[in-house]
Amino acid sequence: MTEVYLNGAFMPLAEARVPVLDRGFLFGDGVYEVIPVYHGQPLRLAAHLDRLERSLAGIRLANPLSRAHWEHLFTRLIASQAAENQAIYLQVTRGAPPVREHRFSKCVEPTVFVMTKPMAPRDPRIAEQGVAAVLREDIRWQRCDIKSISLVAAVLLRQEAADHDAEEALLVRDGWVVEGSTSNVFIVQDGALATPPVGPELLSGITRELIIELSERQGLTLKQRPLSVEDCRRADELLICSSTRELLPVTRLDGAPVGQGQVGPLWRQLDAAYQACKTELMRTPHG
Ligand code: PDD
Repeated sequence: MTEVYLNGAFMPLAEARVPVLDRGFLFGDGVYEVIPVYHGQPLRLAAHLDRLERSLAGIRLANPLSRAHWEHLFTRLIASQAAENQAIYLQVTRGAPPVREHRFSKCVEPTVFVMTKPMAPRDPRIAEQGVAAVLREDIRWQRCDIKSISLVAAVLLRQEAADHDAEEALLVRDGWVVEGSTSNVFIVQDGALATPPVGPELLSGITRELIIELSERQGLTLKQRPLSVEDCRRADELLICSSTRELLPVTRLDGAPVGQGQVGPLWRQLDAAYQACKTELMRTPHG
């Protein structure tokens, strides 16, 4: 039976309950994190907890738990699952006040929820064929740097991609491709990588940071610069990344081939480096 953590107690998932007046339920008033776990060890834990701190500050909510406490919860929940590779999901909402009211009171205890789920291995066809993506207008808000649980725009965009047999919707704001609905984006042009710089229009992905580090270590050229729609359409390679999907090669964009329409060499190189990081976690926890 899957064990989860809710407001100070561990319990089976089926028994976890929150009041209907919870502001997460009524307003989407909360933030979350998704942390990948390989061989029982969270990858880039400190960076995820740093981002949680920034997201909480962004919505004016104090971190309800110390780092040691978060880590204790993760260790216990990871151990309760048999799977070696998992994804931790944590969510903090502004709690359940006695009445529905937009304005918030500092006196209400936040709701803290954590669960883990097994992470399935990547479909081997992805390394052979890549995935498809579509371009869509970014209909989200102005603070995409906050990992907010108000995700209806992302939900609609991701579904829109799925409706077109695509893995991801790449989001265009003022003519610039900022990120995917649930991922960050890189292009390869003439052997050099590029990815949009972080700012309020995109989430500072932990996988994105890792890919930047790995490309530096591999001696690759990488520029953080805005990407136009044309940059993406004309790229030799197009890549998306996130904690749960790792690094994926996009070989079709809006139905047209990206580059040769095949998985490219830089994806192979960076994916190999990413896979090596996962193995490294066995020797050096909290990599
Ligand atoms: N989403 N951009 C957006 C909008 C995202 O939702 C995500 C991840 C990313 C990648 O961030 P990271 O590398 O830290 O996972 C970028 C998670 C996985 C989700 O919502 O489930």
